[in-house]
Amino acid sequence: MTANRKTALITGASGGIGEALARTLAQHGYNLILVARTMSKLEALGAELSAKNGVEAVGIASDLSAFDASEKLIADLETRKLNVDVLVNNAGFGEYGEFATGDPVKQQQMISLNILTLTMLTRHLLPKMLERKFGRVMNVASTAAFMPGPLMSVYYASKAYVLSFSEALGEELLNTGVTVTALCPGPTESDFQARAEMQDSKLFQGKTLMTAREVAAQGVAALERGQRVVIPGIMNQIQAQASRFLPRAIVPGIVKNVQARNH
Ligand SMILES: NC(=O)c1ccc[n+]([C@@H]2O[C@H](COP(=O)([O-])OP(=O)(O)OC[C@H]3O[C@@H](n4cnc5c(N)ncnc54)[C@H](OP(=O)(O)O)[C@@H]3O)[C@@H](O)[C@H]2O)c1
Repeated sequence: MTANRKTALITGASGGIGEALARTLAQHGYNLILVARTMSKLEALGAELSAKNGVEAVGIASDLSAFDASEKLIADLETRKLNVDVLVNNAGFGEYGEFATGDPVKQQQMISLNILTLTMLTRHLLPKMLERKFGRVMNVASTAAFMPGPLMSVYYASKAYVLSFSEALGEELLNTGVTVTALCPGPTESDFQARAEMQDSKLFQGKTLMTAREVAAQGVAALERGQRVVIPGIMNQIQAQASRFLPRAIVPGIVKNVQARNH
């Protein structure tokens, strides 16, 4: 890839918020490494963004919920001699329902994708960013990171990890030229709700959702500023912060009620 442009690696770039982030980063002139499982979508997106924005784009198919996914992806990048200046850990999913009856395989994959791969990709790519004295890491958390989430307990906890990890790492990296941004969207138009099988949840019903494009625009602006945490949308900011001012014991009950099935 041409050295005169910065290169951004985006996980989960085949749809939703990740695709929107790739589109925005391409408009800002970044070369792209697009990662997800669906190669046909990555290729089509890469070709479109190269033609529109004059950037280079490479697609890499990977199931990032596999235990050794980060090591394999890093080895692949090294073989192809691809440097990463901007790492966007976006791929993630949720599962709706009670923990005790949830699918244990899915629960494990969720922890692996939302937490393990995100952490280890950051760990492997950080040393070269520090050597170059430049790097941007953006981890996609959620407004779910700010509270416990009955009926999506593992998902909310995974996003609390992402937020905590990002804020702590950002502080460790002060004055190094490398910054960490936690992007915390609220409910957003994408395939997320269908994949989490939560169409019946009151959380989404009858609500106007933010578009992935709006979320991506605010996310990339924050990434470029090196902002620590960004919550797109004023209502999402209020909801995320509200839980801090309520007695801790009552928050899980409120969230459970908000997320309950609408029948
Ligand atoms: N939508 C919301 O309401 C919302 C709110 C807050 C936070 N978020 C967070 O935003 C991020 C993006 O979600 P989204 O809303 O854009 O959902 P989405 O439309 O379902 O997109 C998820 C992306 O992740 C990829 N992905 C899923 N499992 C993967 C795996 N095992 N290996 C590699 N890639 C995988 C998918 O591609 P393939 O299927 O091709 O692999 C897709 O590109 C997630 O971290 C999510 O938790 C979403």
